[in-house]
Amino acid sequence: MNIDEIILKKENKEPLEYKEIEYMVNSYVKNKINDKTMSKFIWAIYNNGLSIKETYYLTDVMIKSGEVIDLSSLNKKVVDKHSTGGVGDKITLIVSPIVAASGVCVPKMSGRGLGLTGGTVDKLESISGYKLNLTKKEFINALKKVGCAVISQSEQIAVADKKIYALRNEIGAVDSIPLIASSIMSKKIASGSDIIIIDLKVGEGAFMKNIKDATKLAKTMVEIGKYYNKKVICTLSDMNIPLGSNIGNALEVKEAIDFFNGKYDKRLYELSVYISSLMISSAKNISMSRAKRLVINLLESGHARNKFYEWIKNQGGDITKLKDKARKYIVVSTKSGYVNEIDSHKISQLVFDLGAGRVKKTDKIDYAAGVMLNKKIGQRVLKGEILGVIFYNKKVENMDKIFESSFIIDKKKKRVKKIIIKTIK
Ligand code: URA
Repeated sequence: MNIDEIILKKENKEPLEYKEIEYMVNSYVKNKINDKTMSKFIWAIYNNGLSIKETYYLTDVMIKSGEVIDLSSLNKKVVDKHSTGGVGDKITLIVSPIVAASGVCVPKMSGRGLGLTGGTVDKLESISGYKLNLTKKEFINALKKVGCAVISQSEQIAVADKKIYALRNEIGAVDSIPLIASSIMSKKIASGSDIIIIDLKVGEGAFMKNIKDATKLAKTMVEIGKYYNKKVICTLSDMNIPLGSNIGNALEVKEAIDFFNGKYDKRLYELSVYISSLMISSAKNISMSRAKRLVINLLESGHARNKFYEWIKNQGGDITKLKDKARKYIVVSTKSGYVNEIDSHKISQLVFDLGAGRVKKTDKIDYAAGVMLNKKIGQRVLKGEILGVIFYNKKVENMDKIFESSFIIDKKKKRVKKIIIKTIK
């Protein structure tokens, strides 16, 4: 097969065969083609797109480049939940135990956060003792015993995606719908779940900035799922403002604890209950309203909270020992009005500068650093009232001013955007 001819074919918008995509991907994994040539191929896809069939070919080749997890020994419906990542997104910490408490199995392999704020793995690492590197046997046993387990993503899954995604990041070719869809789906399908629920974030704090592109991405992922007989459901949720009150690794674990103790942010509650209900309704084949009643019951009865503690303890974590040692800086408002916007990008940049995020996988992070929002979208604030708290070990120049300027406070109250935009099945 001729590499230049394959690239030219895509540059001329001609459809590629399975064996051509397979040849390109496998040659790259085996270092038979270099970054420069692979970049040409990626740019040809980026500029000319891929049909659903070609996107499936790419997904399939990437799945086969690594290990595929077999969860059939669980003898249960298994549901995975994936979030495309947002500011203050601690949903996995909340929905995994809720859904496990309903009897549905939730295996989660999570990535380390690259970017402005930490990923689920970083949040869990802020709990002393929590073990993220379980062996396959330990993972299955944890799932059998507790019903949910969260570990770090195996290096052996979708090996080709790892290499291609890193190259895409390097050359700035991330925001391509077929490339994102195949990247996410290759990892999810290789992880072995029957049902995959995707929380696709849309807005300033997410990599999908508008509903039109997010819808296209969602539909592509649902279509790919059909090739594997997997139910894929995508919910588009608003990420123009941070999710919940706390942003930062240990702070987000604290917010999850508060949640199970009945103290929650309204938007976080709404999304958590919705995603949990979606997972339960598709696994148990029951209506959304029935699943929602079950979720509320699990929360109010304390069963979900007990499951949360059971899960953390089973993986060696001591929830009373969070790596949360930091100084506090209280920020008060210099004006009165209504909070009409909270700039999630600005907030996440501040949280990153405080040390809570990383650029390279090997970068150290400060688990305790972050911010707590005292005032929420739509709320009235008076001059002199507390807007929020900055948790820091390393001061950032003008951090109070940056924090305050993330809040857009006007005299007139604007309509608050709904958190759940739509669901695509
Ligand atoms: N997340 C992924 O795993 N892959 C992408 O391409 C984008 C986001």
